Amino acid sequence: MSFHGELIGEHASIVETRRLIAKVARSSTRTVLLYGETGTGKGLVARMLHEQSARASGEFIDVNCAAIPVSLMESELFGYDRGAFTGAMVKKTGLIEAAHGGTMFLDEVRELDPVLQAKLLSLLDTQRFRRVGSVRSIEVDVRFIAATNKILLGEVRKGLFRDDLYYRLQVVSINIPALRERGEDVMVLTEHFMRTFSARYGRTVFRLEPAVIDLFARYSWPGNVRELSNLLERIFILEEGETIRIGHIPPRIVREARERGASPAPSDTAAPDRVEDLDQSFAQATDAFQRDLIRDALERSGGNRVRAGQLLGLTRHALRHQMVRLGLVD
Ligand SMILES: Nc1ncnc2c1ncn2[C@@H]1O[C@H](COP(=O)(O)OP(=O)(O)OP(=O)(O)O)[C@@H](O)[C@H]1O
Ligand SMILES: [Mg+2]
Repeated sequence: MSFHGELIGEHASIVETRRLIAKVARSSTRTVLLYGETGTGKGLVARMLHEQSARASGEFIDVNCAAIPVSLMESELFGYDRGAFTGAMVKKTGLIEAAHGGTMFLDEVRELDPVLQAKLLSLLDTQRFRRVGSVRSIEVDVRFIAATNKILLGEVRKGLFRDDLYYRLQVVSINIPALRERGEDVMVLTEHFMRTFSARYGRTVFRLEPAVIDLFARYSWPGNVRELSNLLERIFILEEGETIRIGHIPPRIVREARERGASPAPSDTAAPDRVEDLDQSFAQATDAFQRDLIRDALERSGGNRVRAGQLLGLTRHALRHQMVRLGLVD
Protein backbone atom coordinates (compact mmCIF):
# COMPACT_ATOMS: atom_id res chain seq x y z
CA MET A 1 0.00 0.00 0.00
CA SER A 2 0.88 3.64 -0.21
CA PHE A 3 2.95 5.42 2.40
CA HIS A 4 -0.14 7.42 3.37
CA GLY A 5 -1.35 4.37 5.22
CA GLU A 6 -4.17 1.98 4.80
CA LEU A 7 -7.71 1.86 6.03
CA ILE A 8 -7.38 -0.41 9.04
CA GLY A 9 -10.34 -2.39 10.35
CA GLU A 10 -11.92 -5.82 10.29
CA HIS A 11 -15.57 -5.03 10.87
CA ALA A 12 -17.78 -6.19 7.97
CA SER A 13 -18.74 -2.59 7.16
CA ILE A 14 -15.14 -1.43 6.73
CA VAL A 15 -14.20 -4.56 4.78
CA GLU A 16 -17.06 -3.64 2.44
CA THR A 17 -15.80 -0.04 2.26
CA ARG A 18 -12.32 -1.25 1.26
CA ARG A 19 -13.81 -3.50 -1.42
CA LEU A 20 -15.81 -0.59 -2.79
CA ILE A 21 -12.75 1.70 -2.79
CA ALA A 22 -10.78 -0.81 -4.86
CA LYS A 23 -13.64 -1.19 -7.30
CA VAL A 24 -14.39 2.52 -7.66
CA ALA A 25 -10.69 3.42 -7.93
CA ARG A 26 -10.24 1.17 -10.96
CA SER A 27 -13.51 2.24 -12.59
CA SER A 28 -13.71 5.07 -15.08
CA THR A 29 -16.09 7.19 -12.97
CA ARG A 30 -15.27 10.90 -12.90
CA THR A 31 -17.13 11.62 -9.68
CA VAL A 32 -17.19 10.01 -6.27
CA LEU A 33 -19.06 11.22 -3.19
CA LEU A 34 -17.58 10.31 0.20
CA TYR A 35 -19.73 10.52 3.26
CA GLY A 36 -18.47 10.01 6.80
CA GLU A 37 -18.48 11.72 10.17
CA THR A 38 -15.45 13.78 11.12
CA GLY A 39 -12.31 11.67 11.62
CA THR A 40 -13.61 8.54 9.88
CA GLY A 41 -10.90 8.72 7.21
CA LYS A 42 -12.38 10.63 4.26
CA GLY A 43 -9.04 12.23 3.48
CA LEU A 44 -7.35 8.85 3.64
CA VAL A 45 -9.97 7.23 1.41
CA ALA A 46 -9.68 10.03 -1.17
CA ARG A 47 -5.93 9.38 -1.43
CA MET A 48 -6.47 5.64 -1.66
CA LEU A 49 -8.94 6.20 -4.50
CA HIS A 50 -6.32 8.22 -6.33
CA GLU A 51 -3.42 5.89 -5.67
CA GLN A 52 -5.29 2.75 -6.64
CA SER A 53 -6.51 4.33 -9.88
CA ALA A 54 -5.02 4.60 -13.35
CA ARG A 55 -4.60 8.31 -12.49
CA ALA A 56 -2.02 7.59 -9.77
CA SER A 57 0.79 9.18 -11.81
CA GLY A 58 -1.23 12.40 -12.15
CA GLU A 59 -1.70 15.03 -9.47
CA PHE A 60 -3.84 14.64 -6.37
CA ILE A 61 -5.13 18.10 -5.56
CA ASP A 62 -6.77 18.65 -2.23
CA VAL A 63 -9.14 21.62 -1.93
CA ASN A 64 -10.97 22.39 1.29
CA CYS A 65 -14.07 24.27 0.24
CA ALA A 66 -14.54 25.62 3.77
CA ALA A 67 -11.01 26.99 4.05
CA ILE A 68 -10.70 29.17 0.93
CA PRO A 69 -12.62 32.49 0.98
CA VAL A 70 -15.51 32.53 -1.46
CA SER A 71 -14.03 35.58 -3.21
CA LEU A 72 -10.85 33.67 -4.09
CA MET A 73 -12.33 30.27 -4.74
CA GLU A 74 -13.39 30.85 -8.33
CA SER A 75 -9.98 31.97 -9.54
CA GLU A 76 -8.23 29.34 -7.42
CA LEU A 77 -10.25 26.61 -9.09
CA PHE A 78 -10.74 27.94 -12.59
CA GLY A 79 -7.83 30.33 -13.02
CA TYR A 80 -8.06 33.49 -15.12
CA ASP A 81 -6.70 35.03 -18.28
CA ARG A 82 -4.56 38.16 -18.42
CA GLY A 83 -6.81 41.21 -18.17
CA ALA A 84 -9.78 39.21 -16.89
CA PHE A 85 -10.31 41.85 -14.23
CA THR A 86 -8.48 44.87 -12.86
CA GLY A 87 -5.21 43.61 -11.46
CA ALA A 88 -5.05 40.40 -13.52
CA MET A 89 -1.68 41.26 -15.06
CA VAL A 90 -0.74 37.72 -15.97
CA LYS A 91 -2.78 34.63 -16.54
CA LYS A 92 -3.26 32.19 -13.70
CA THR A 93 -3.65 28.47 -14.10
CA GLY A 94 -6.40 27.15 -11.85
CA LEU A 95 -6.25 24.03 -9.72
CA ILE A 96 -8.62 22.22 -12.05
CA GLU A 97 -6.17 22.51 -14.92
CA ALA A 98 -3.36 21.42 -12.61
CA ALA A 99 -5.35 18.28 -11.77
CA HIS A 100 -5.61 17.28 -15.44
CA GLY A 101 -5.00 13.54 -15.71
CA GLY A 102 -5.33 13.20 -11.95
CA THR A 103 -7.76 13.66 -9.08
CA MET A 104 -9.26 16.68 -7.36
CA PHE A 105 -10.48 16.20 -3.80
CA LEU A 106 -13.21 18.69 -2.89
CA ASP A 107 -13.38 18.40 0.87
CA GLU A 108 -16.42 19.84 2.72
CA VAL A 109 -18.14 20.24 -0.62
CA ARG A 110 -21.36 21.57 0.88
CA GLU A 111 -19.52 24.84 1.60
CA LEU A 112 -19.03 25.44 -2.12
CA ASP A 113 -20.61 28.72 -3.21
CA PRO A 114 -23.83 28.29 -5.29
CA VAL A 115 -22.28 29.99 -8.33
CA LEU A 116 -19.37 27.56 -8.21
CA GLN A 117 -21.73 24.64 -7.69
CA ALA A 118 -23.29 25.56 -11.04
CA LYS A 119 -19.88 25.88 -12.73
CA LEU A 120 -18.80 22.54 -11.31
CA LEU A 121 -21.94 20.83 -12.54
CA SER A 122 -21.39 22.16 -16.03
CA LEU A 123 -17.79 20.96 -15.92
CA LEU A 124 -18.88 17.49 -14.79
CA ASP A 125 -21.38 17.32 -17.66
CA THR A 126 -19.15 18.63 -20.44
CA GLN A 127 -15.59 18.10 -19.16
CA ARG A 128 -14.95 21.64 -20.31
CA PHE A 129 -14.64 24.92 -18.44
CA ARG A 130 -13.61 28.53 -19.01
CA ARG A 131 -11.03 30.47 -17.06
CA VAL A 132 -12.48 33.55 -15.38
CA GLY A 133 -12.86 36.26 -18.04
CA SER A 134 -12.06 33.93 -20.90
CA VAL A 135 -14.19 33.07 -23.92
CA ARG A 136 -12.22 29.97 -24.77
CA SER A 137 -13.25 26.70 -23.15
CA ILE A 138 -10.65 24.17 -22.10
CA GLU A 139 -11.09 20.42 -21.98
CA VAL A 140 -9.89 18.59 -18.87
CA ASP A 141 -9.82 15.03 -17.64
CA VAL A 142 -10.17 15.12 -13.87
CA ARG A 143 -11.80 12.81 -11.36
CA PHE A 144 -13.62 14.76 -8.67
CA ILE A 145 -13.92 13.22 -5.23
CA ALA A 146 -16.30 15.26 -3.09
CA ALA A 147 -16.50 14.72 0.67
CA THR A 148 -19.02 15.72 3.26
CA ASN A 149 -19.64 14.97 6.92
CA LYS A 150 -23.25 16.10 6.73
CA ILE A 151 -25.98 14.26 4.92
CA LEU A 152 -26.17 16.36 1.77
CA LEU A 153 -29.81 15.61 1.11
CA GLY A 154 -30.69 17.70 4.16
CA GLU A 155 -28.72 20.62 2.67
CA VAL A 156 -30.51 20.08 -0.65
CA ARG A 157 -33.92 20.29 1.05
CA LYS A 158 -32.87 23.49 2.81
CA GLY A 159 -31.87 24.93 -0.55
CA LEU A 160 -28.20 25.20 0.44
CA PHE A 161 -26.91 22.66 -2.04
CA ARG A 162 -28.02 22.31 -5.67
CA ASP A 163 -30.13 19.21 -6.14
CA ASP A 164 -28.86 18.59 -9.69
CA LEU A 165 -25.25 18.64 -8.48
CA TYR A 166 -26.15 16.40 -5.57
CA TYR A 167 -27.72 13.79 -7.85
CA ARG A 168 -24.76 14.02 -10.21
CA LEU A 169 -22.28 13.47 -7.35
CA GLN A 170 -24.05 10.69 -5.53
CA VAL A 171 -24.18 8.29 -8.50
CA VAL A 172 -21.08 6.66 -7.05
CA SER A 173 -20.96 7.21 -3.32
CA ILE A 174 -19.00 5.60 -0.51
CA ASN A 175 -20.09 5.70 3.12
CA ILE A 176 -17.41 5.38 5.75
CA PRO A 177 -18.94 3.95 8.94
CA ALA A 178 -18.52 5.70 12.29
CA LEU A 179 -16.09 4.07 14.72
CA ARG A 180 -18.78 3.41 17.34
CA GLU A 181 -20.63 1.22 14.83
CA ARG A 182 -17.59 -0.92 14.19
CA GLY A 183 -17.40 -3.03 17.38
CA GLU A 184 -13.99 -4.64 17.79
CA ASP A 185 -12.36 -2.19 15.41
CA VAL A 186 -11.75 0.15 18.34
CA MET A 187 -9.31 -2.45 19.69
CA VAL A 188 -7.91 -3.32 16.25
CA LEU A 189 -7.13 0.36 15.67
CA THR A 190 -5.82 0.82 19.22
CA GLU A 191 -3.30 -1.97 18.60
CA HIS A 192 -2.38 -0.46 15.26
CA PHE A 193 -1.74 2.97 16.79
CA MET A 194 0.15 1.50 19.77
CA ARG A 195 2.53 -0.14 17.29
CA THR A 196 2.85 3.08 15.27
CA PHE A 197 3.51 5.28 18.31
CA SER A 198 5.81 2.74 19.97
CA ALA A 199 8.00 3.04 16.89
CA ARG A 200 7.63 6.83 16.66
CA TYR A 201 8.34 7.60 20.32
CA GLY A 202 10.84 4.79 20.93
CA ARG A 203 9.01 3.32 23.88
CA THR A 204 6.70 0.33 24.11
CA VAL A 205 3.17 0.56 25.38
CA PHE A 206 1.32 -2.62 24.68
CA ARG A 207 -1.28 -3.20 27.34
CA LEU A 208 -4.57 -1.71 28.37
CA GLU A 209 -6.06 -2.03 31.81
CA PRO A 210 -9.36 -4.01 31.56
CA ALA A 211 -11.28 -0.91 32.66
CA VAL A 212 -9.84 0.97 29.68
CA ILE A 213 -10.86 -1.77 27.25
CA ASP A 214 -14.35 -1.59 28.67
CA LEU A 215 -14.40 2.19 28.46
CA PHE A 216 -13.17 2.23 24.85
CA ALA A 217 -15.97 -0.17 23.92
CA ARG A 218 -18.64 2.07 25.41
CA TYR A 219 -17.43 5.54 24.54
CA SER A 220 -19.18 7.12 21.53
CA TRP A 221 -16.02 8.41 19.78
CA PRO A 222 -17.61 11.52 18.24
CA GLY A 223 -14.23 12.35 16.65
CA ASN A 224 -13.90 8.79 15.38
CA VAL A 225 -10.48 7.39 14.40
CA ARG A 226 -8.79 10.79 14.66
CA GLU A 227 -9.99 11.13 18.26
CA LEU A 228 -8.72 7.65 19.18
CA SER A 229 -5.37 8.26 17.52
CA ASN A 230 -4.93 11.67 19.19
CA LEU A 231 -5.87 10.28 22.59
CA LEU A 232 -3.33 7.45 22.31
CA GLU A 233 -0.61 9.77 21.05
CA ARG A 234 -1.19 12.13 23.97
CA ILE A 235 -0.79 9.19 26.38
CA PHE A 236 2.44 8.13 24.66
CA ILE A 237 3.81 11.64 25.08
CA LEU A 238 2.64 12.46 28.60
CA GLU A 239 2.33 9.22 30.54
CA GLU A 240 4.76 6.55 31.62
CA GLY A 241 4.72 2.77 31.76
CA GLU A 242 3.76 -0.09 29.51
CA THR A 243 0.09 -0.05 30.40
CA ILE A 244 -2.62 2.41 29.50
CA ARG A 245 -4.62 3.06 32.65
CA ILE A 246 -8.01 4.54 33.32
CA GLY A 247 -6.24 7.45 35.04
CA HIS A 248 -4.63 8.36 31.71
CA ILE A 249 -7.99 8.98 30.08
CA PRO A 250 -9.47 12.51 30.26
CA PRO A 251 -12.33 12.68 32.81
CA ARG A 252 -14.72 13.95 30.14
CA ILE A 253 -14.37 10.69 28.20
CA VAL A 254 -14.61 8.52 31.31
CA ARG A 255 -17.78 10.34 32.36
CA GLU A 256 -19.43 10.04 28.95
CA ALA A 257 -18.64 6.33 28.67
CA ARG A 258 -19.99 5.71 32.16
CA GLU A 259 -23.20 7.53 31.35
CA ARG A 260 -23.69 5.25 28.39
CA GLY A 261 -25.37 2.38 30.16
CA ALA A 262 -24.41 -0.62 32.22
CA SER A 263 -20.96 -2.08 31.94
CA PRO A 264 -20.09 -5.75 32.01
CA ALA A 265 -16.98 -4.79 34.00
CA PRO A 266 -17.15 -4.18 37.74
CA SER A 267 -15.09 -0.95 37.69
CA ASP A 268 -18.08 1.28 37.29
CA THR A 269 -19.72 4.09 39.20
CA ALA A 270 -23.32 3.28 38.32
CA ALA A 271 -25.72 4.22 41.11
CA PRO A 272 -25.62 1.56 43.82
CA ASP A 273 -28.88 -0.24 44.48
CA ARG A 274 -27.85 -1.99 47.70
CA VAL A 275 -26.36 -0.52 50.85
CA GLU A 276 -23.46 -3.03 50.64
CA ASP A 277 -22.56 -1.50 47.28
CA LEU A 278 -22.27 1.97 48.74
CA ASP A 279 -18.80 1.58 50.21
CA GLN A 280 -17.30 0.53 46.91
CA SER A 281 -19.19 3.14 44.87
CA PHE A 282 -18.36 5.91 47.29
CA ALA A 283 -14.67 5.04 47.09
CA GLN A 284 -14.77 4.88 43.31
CA ALA A 285 -16.63 8.16 42.97
CA THR A 286 -14.20 9.84 45.36
CA ASP A 287 -11.24 8.44 43.44
CA ALA A 288 -12.69 9.69 40.15
CA PHE A 289 -13.18 13.13 41.69
CA GLN A 290 -9.61 13.20 43.01
CA ARG A 291 -8.27 12.12 39.63
CA ASP A 292 -10.15 15.02 38.01
CA LEU A 293 -8.73 17.46 40.56
CA ILE A 294 -5.17 16.27 40.07
CA ARG A 295 -5.39 16.23 36.29
CA ASP A 296 -6.81 19.76 36.30
CA ALA A 297 -4.07 20.98 38.63
CA LEU A 298 -1.42 19.36 36.42
CA GLU A 299 -2.94 20.95 33.37
CA ARG A 300 -2.99 24.39 35.00
CA SER A 301 0.61 23.99 36.16
CA GLY A 302 1.79 22.84 32.74
CA GLY A 303 2.70 19.43 34.15
CA ASN A 304 4.84 20.85 36.99
CA ARG A 305 4.13 18.61 39.98
CA VAL A 306 5.48 20.98 42.63
CA ARG A 307 3.17 23.74 41.34
CA ALA A 308 0.25 21.30 41.01
CA GLY A 309 0.82 20.15 44.59
CA GLN A 310 0.75 23.78 45.78
CA LEU A 311 -2.55 24.36 43.97
CA LEU A 312 -4.00 21.33 45.76
CA GLY A 313 -2.40 22.01 49.14
CA LEU A 314 -0.32 18.84 48.93
CA THR A 315 3.39 18.29 49.34
CA ARG A 316 5.18 16.95 46.30
CA HIS A 317 5.51 13.62 48.07
CA ALA A 318 1.80 13.45 48.94
CA LEU A 319 0.82 14.31 45.39
CA ARG A 320 3.10 11.61 44.03
CA HIS A 321 1.57 9.13 46.46
CA GLN A 322 -1.98 10.00 45.36
CA MET A 323 -1.06 9.81 41.70
CA VAL A 324 0.34 6.31 42.15
CA ARG A 325 -2.70 5.23 44.15
CA LEU A 326 -5.09 6.60 41.52
CA GLY A 327 -3.21 4.99 38.65
CA LEU A 328 -2.12 8.33 37.19
CA VAL A 329 1.50 7.15 37.12
CA ASP A 330 3.12 3.75 37.58
N1 LIG B 1 -9.48 3.05 9.26
C1 LIG B 1 -8.37 3.78 9.48
N2 LIG B 1 -7.18 3.18 9.56
C2 LIG B 1 -6.07 3.90 9.80
N3 LIG B 1 -6.04 5.21 9.96
C3 LIG B 1 -7.20 5.87 9.89
C4 LIG B 1 -8.43 5.19 9.62
N4 LIG B 1 -9.42 6.11 9.59
C5 LIG B 1 -8.84 7.29 9.82
N5 LIG B 1 -7.52 7.17 10.00
C6 LIG B 1 -6.59 8.25 10.33
O1 LIG B 1 -7.28 9.14 11.19
C7 LIG B 1 -6.98 10.49 10.87
C8 LIG B 1 -8.24 11.20 10.49
O2 LIG B 1 -8.68 10.77 9.22
P1 LIG B 1 -9.10 11.80 8.06
O3 LIG B 1 -8.35 13.08 8.21
O4 LIG B 1 -9.01 11.11 6.78
O5 LIG B 1 -10.63 12.04 8.51
P2 LIG B 1 -11.75 12.86 7.78
O6 LIG B 1 -12.90 11.94 7.61
O7 LIG B 1 -11.19 13.52 6.57
O8 LIG B 1 -12.15 13.93 8.88
P3 LIG B 1 -12.70 15.47 8.69
O9 LIG B 1 -14.12 15.37 8.23
O10 LIG B 1 -12.61 16.01 10.09
O11 LIG B 1 -11.80 16.13 7.71
C9 LIG B 1 -5.96 10.45 9.75
O12 LIG B 1 -4.69 10.53 10.33
C10 LIG B 1 -6.19 9.09 9.13
O13 LIG B 1 -5.02 8.62 8.51
MG1 LIG C 1 -10.69 15.46 6.21
